[in-house]
Amino acid sequence: MEKLGRNDKCWCGSGKKYKSCHMAIDDKIHYYELQGHIVPDRDMLKTPEQIEGIRVSSKINVAVLDAVEKMIGPGVSTEEIDKLVYDMTTEMGGIPAPLNYDGFPKSVCTSINEVVCHGIPSSDVILKDGDIVNVDVSTIYNGYFSDSSRMFCIGKVDAEKEKLVRVARECIDLGLEQVKPWNFLGDMAQAINDHAKANGYSVVVDIGGHGVGLEFHEEPFVSYVTKKGTEMLMVPSMVFTIEPMINAGTCEIEIDEADGWTVYTADRKPSAQWEVTVVVIDDGYEILTW
Ligand code: MF3
Ligand code: CO
Repeated sequence: MEKLGRNDKCWCGSGKKYKSCHMAIDDKIHYYELQGHIVPDRDMLKTPEQIEGIRVSSKINVAVLDAVEKMIGPGVSTEEIDKLVYDMTTEMGGIPAPLNYDGFPKSVCTSINEVVCHGIPSSDVILKDGDIVNVDVSTIYNGYFSDSSRMFCIGKVDAEKEKLVRVARECIDLGLEQVKPWNFLGDMAQAINDHAKANGYSVVVDIGGHGVGLEFHEEPFVSYVTKKGTEMLMVPSMVFTIEPMINAGTCEIEIDEADGWTVYTADRKPSAQWEVTVVVIDDGYEILTW
């Protein structure tokens, strides 16, 4: 990493002198690194301009999910959700990030009951009374990426599924409490995993969250099964997703061999997931996508 003098302009583009901008933070990061911790690279710290870009992208992302919330219900096909996401995103000048991403054929992921994530919308799939469904919307606007998802209970859902959806949501809130500078990603992971386990659930190991903003999936990989005091140091201006997949039964998953995307629980018990994009700020976090 290039060594800046105290009076040089800060690398973040603020225009301020290094000594009155990122110098203290860089020194502190270095101190943690010397203790053997994993620390973020400079390119994982977003500039104020980039954060603003992600914030604007997130506004579209949230508006689309709000619209989904209004139209979703029994009898609605996941294709109709896909169409709404595509139409609304493009009308607002955005691009749905999933579309053609690694060959993904649709604009949104719709994951019902035992589908953990990456469910592909289809006119053959009609939501019915008692389903729980995750709608995962990812948006590109002006080159900036945002990513969030919500669970929806369709009609009358049984008590077991309803609890799974509620606990998955509580996991987000407990994880968020751990998001602040100089904590570790593992602090968040453990808070989430402990709560899931206490309710008899498991957390998916093989798929996690990610840095986001200038690309869809950036470093770091964000696990929700690691331990307090481990994994990457949280530093102001890091932007990443919190999106643990909480399974009613085993954490084992299987990918559909036919479509190459749909992820199921191995035991076909239900799974639930909420997702937010957050930025670490001086006194904690800002949720960009609620
Ligand atoms: N939105 C998912 C995430 O939270 C990624 C979906 S990839 C796709 O990271 F190709 F299936 F869209
Ligand atoms: Co994500």
